[in-house]
Amino acid sequence: MKVLVTGSSGLIGSEAVRFHAGRGDTVHGIDNNTRMDLFGPGGDTRPTLALLRDACPAFVHHDIDIRDRVRVPRLFESERFDRVIHCAAQPSHDLAASMPLDDFDINAGGTINLLDAARRFCPESPFVHVSTNKVYGDAPNRLNLIELETRYDYADPAHANGIAESFPIDQSLHSLFGASKASGDLIAQEYGRYFGMPVGVFRGGCLTGPQHAGVKLHGFLSFLVSTVTSAKPYTIIGYKGKQVRDQIHSADVIDAFDRWSADPRPGEVFNIGGGKANAASVLECLSLIEDVTGTRTSVDHDPTPRVGDHICYYSDLTKLKARLPGWNVTRSLPEIVEDIARAHTDASAA
Ligand SMILES: NC(=O)c1ccc[n+]([C@@H]2O[C@H](COP(=O)([O-])OP(=O)(O)OC[C@H]3O[C@@H](n4cnc5c(N)ncnc54)[C@H](O)[C@@H]3O)[C@@H](O)[C@H]2O)c1
Repeated sequence: MKVLVTGSSGLIGSEAVRFHAGRGDTVHGIDNNTRMDLFGPGGDTRPTLALLRDACPAFVHHDIDIRDRVRVPRLFESERFDRVIHCAAQPSHDLAASMPLDDFDINAGGTINLLDAARRFCPESPFVHVSTNKVYGDAPNRLNLIELETRYDYADPAHANGIAESFPIDQSLHSLFGASKASGDLIAQEYGRYFGMPVGVFRGGCLTGPQHAGVKLHGFLSFLVSTVTSAKPYTIIGYKGKQVRDQIHSADVIDAFDRWSADPRPGEVFNIGGGKANAASVLECLSLIEDVTGTRTSVDHDPTPRVGDHICYYSDLTKLKARLPGWNVTRSLPEIVEDIARAHTDASAA
């Protein structure tokens, strides 16, 4: 099988490359290291690319911008992929406001460019589009919440399992990033529903893993681990650190993509994250990381929340689990933190 992964040097893309290469598939990747342009040297993905080349000698890398309206269709025409996993994005909620045009061009324009190339040259092939929980905007903040000692939680039993796919995505504040991703999400659904293509949309909670090049503006858990292990101070932004996120290991994300791609249906939408079991507040994550690493860090609080930031969000996984029997979240939050901490220790020892 011939698989295309976009954003192949990033967190989710590199996991997808390893997974498919490990299974003997022919894997092509598109990544032009935009992450470094966006985040500076801390976002440089070239080390990940070098590791991929070592681990997967048959991997074919393409230094192409997903917005390129000539080179992208040309690649699809020559390769006719059997699967597409679209992970390339401007992924930062906060950064988008400083570059709204680039953000929209990448997240919406790049997405339709890939979808249309797939429509022209491999319309029968499963196409995974990685979306985000930010498509729900700040509407989850209107839910009644209870404030516990270290976190917020949903007060209404209707949300006991988290936020489901039926939650509205419009008429709320998204941030520019949430709006560009919502546009990509909608057009991906449309290529599924209108053209009948097997396109699946996966709205991620916090996706993470040891290969995350976490930076202040993206990759919260990875950045927090690196801050704590290097004994730097950490600033908690808003909501007293009680804001809740659900964390999922990238390997569990790729497993869901693979199971769905084996039995795809046009225009399906899923929420994917660690769910309630892997949901924790910033304060709780900090304390877990300190326990795992045996390091203490100094913390201060900036009381002004980030625009459009969720106070409490965790993914309701009911639909995903029902549709993909056998799929589950297999890594607990402590296991994920241990995995990331180990990667940081190994990297600093190297
Ligand atoms: N990591 C998370 O917590 C999270 C949460 C929800 C959704 N998502 C979504 O998952 C997907 C993957 O995110 P990630 O965490 O792996 O991000 P990442 O930044 O680690 O990887 C994205 C990769 O895409 C590449 N890229 C960006 N723009 C490009 C362009 N124009 N042309 C070619 N390559 C380009 C970057 O260089 C980078 O290597 C994104 O769609 C993101 O919005 C991520």
